[in-house]
Amino acid sequence: MKVLVATEKPFAPVAIEGIREVIEGAGHELQLLEKYSSRSQLLDAVATADALIIRSDKVDDEVLDAAKQLKIVVRAGAGYDNVDLTAASAHGVCVENTPGQNSNAVAELVFGMAVMAVRNMLDGTSGSELRGKRLGIHAFGQVGRNVARIAKGFEMQVSALDPYCPDQAMADAGVAPIHDIKELYSQNKFVSLHIPATPETRASVGYDLITLLPKGGVLINTARKEVIDEEGLAKALRERTDIKYVADVKPDCADALKAEFGSRVLFTPKKMGAQTAEANINAGIAAARQIVEFFATGAAPFRVNK
Ligand code: 3PG
Repeated sequence: MKVLVATEKPFAPVAIEGIREVIEGAGHELQLLEKYSSRSQLLDAVATADALIIRSDKVDDEVLDAAKQLKIVVRAGAGYDNVDLTAASAHGVCVENTPGQNSNAVAELVFGMAVMAVRNMLDGTSGSELRGKRLGIHAFGQVGRNVARIAKGFEMQVSALDPYCPDQAMADAGVAPIHDIKELYSQNKFVSLHIPATPETRASVGYDLITLLPKGGVLINTARKEVIDEEGLAKALRERTDIKYVADVKPDCADALKAEFGSRVLFTPKKMGAQTAEANINAGIAAARQIVEFFATGAAPFRVNK
């Protein structure tokens, strides 16, 4: 079988070595399309692929139409909002993700960005510390749990909101469960977003929630830009001059926000949360193993489409 790794944002070379070992070790062929710059390159490359490993690369009807032999797509990572699941099912293609494999990398970046915010983006002025402050985690999945674990090291007071997670699971992690979203935002100086981008969460965090943050509040977004109502965010930053927004997912209006709010906002040029050698190795090799397992036994333990 031919396995194509198609990643606009490439894995670390060491991860590719690991993927190659797994794929070729199982008798399959590996093809690489890294750092591609046009969609036509992707459409050409998928034409002969039986399996596809991607990151945030978009897989839609057009890609699936071009991929006549494709049987499985594995998103090496957590969020799969870049894959049209309905179209994949209609094409008879199995879609899996690799949950948990890059969560620590994303969680570590949350604290990198939080420290940047409270140290005034390292501009030489006196800032503040994370110790003893309240952190609210918006969605307690794999990344949220890692954020809670690391926050304990900073001696932060941690709470979380997640209607899909039992209170006991939070309590076991030393995290106070919150059931009211307004409480999450009004009681925590730091709020870290970990909700997936879905039709329900799109633009769900805006002016009303952001302005609830206590004085000096910091909103940290290492999830998806789509969950923010950008107009509401700008209005909140304008009215509440004490609030900061740091995001690993550059908003569409990043330039305007930067021009208006300067060092109160921080954006990475590209999504960097999972961009570590360790996360690339973990997620990339997990994806490769899942493909080998699928071809060997038909099993797809992390299937996300019907
Ligand atoms: C994920 O959903 O796994 C993260 O957002 C990482 O995405 P990336 O693989 O494009 O860096």
